[in-house]
Amino acid sequence: MEIIELSHPLSKHYLTVLRDKKTTFETFRLAASKLSYLLIIEATKQLHLDDVKIETPLIETNGKELASNTVAVSVLRAGLGLIDGPKDLIPNMTFGYIGVQRNEETAEPENYYENLPEINDKDVFILEPMLATGGSLSFAIDTVKKYSPRKIYALTVISSPEGIKFISSKHPDITLLTASVDEKLNENYYIVPGLGDMGDRLFGTV
Ligand code: URA
Repeated sequence: MEIIELSHPLSKHYLTVLRDKKTTFETFRLAASKLSYLLIIEATKQLHLDDVKIETPLIETNGKELASNTVAVSVLRAGLGLIDGPKDLIPNMTFGYIGVQRNEETAEPENYYENLPEINDKDVFILEPMLATGGSLSFAIDTVKKYSPRKIYALTVISSPEGIKFISSKHPDITLLTASVDEKLNENYYIVPGLGDMGDRLFGTV
C-alpha cells in the first residue's frame, strides 16, 4: 500500500490546532476544513489531464482540462469534516456517504446508511479522518470496491500503526494519505496522542 504523509508546514500547523484540547468547536471545524484542502491537493497530484485549445483575449493557446472522473465518499459522521477541500477544488466531483456501525451480536462492521453516486471506473477518495483499528475504513473500501472504481485513495487526518497494518494487509492496492502516523492505539482504541473523538469535536457532542 502506498502511504503518503503530508509534510507541508501548514498541515503540521492545522494538525496541532486539531490536537489541542483547548481548541473550540468552531476553530476545530475550520482547521479540519483547511487540512482537507491540503489532503485533497496531495491526493490528486496524479489525476489525468486532457489537452485543450482555448483562446486568451490575445491568442489561441494550449491548456489542460481535468479528465479524471472523481468521487468523494464520506464515512459518517467524522468524514463530513473533510468535505470542503474536495467540494471546493475538484471540478465535477460527486459525493457519496457511508454510515458504518458495529453489529452488537457479531461485532462485525455493517452499514446503516449507503448513498453512493456512479463509481464505476472513477477515482474514489474516501474521507475517514481517524484510521484507528481500520475496521470502518476497510468496510468502506470493500463497499466502494463492489462498484469497480478505477483507483481508491483514503484521506485521513491521523493514522495509527495498527490501522495502517490492517488496511495494508486487506487493501494493498489503495493509496493512503495522512497528516500524521501517530504512536499507537490505547486500550479503548483511541489513537495516542491523537485528538480525541473527531466526530464529537467537530459537532460539539461532548
Ligand atoms: N475515532 C476517533 O474519533 N478518535 C480516535 O482516536 C479513534 C477513532
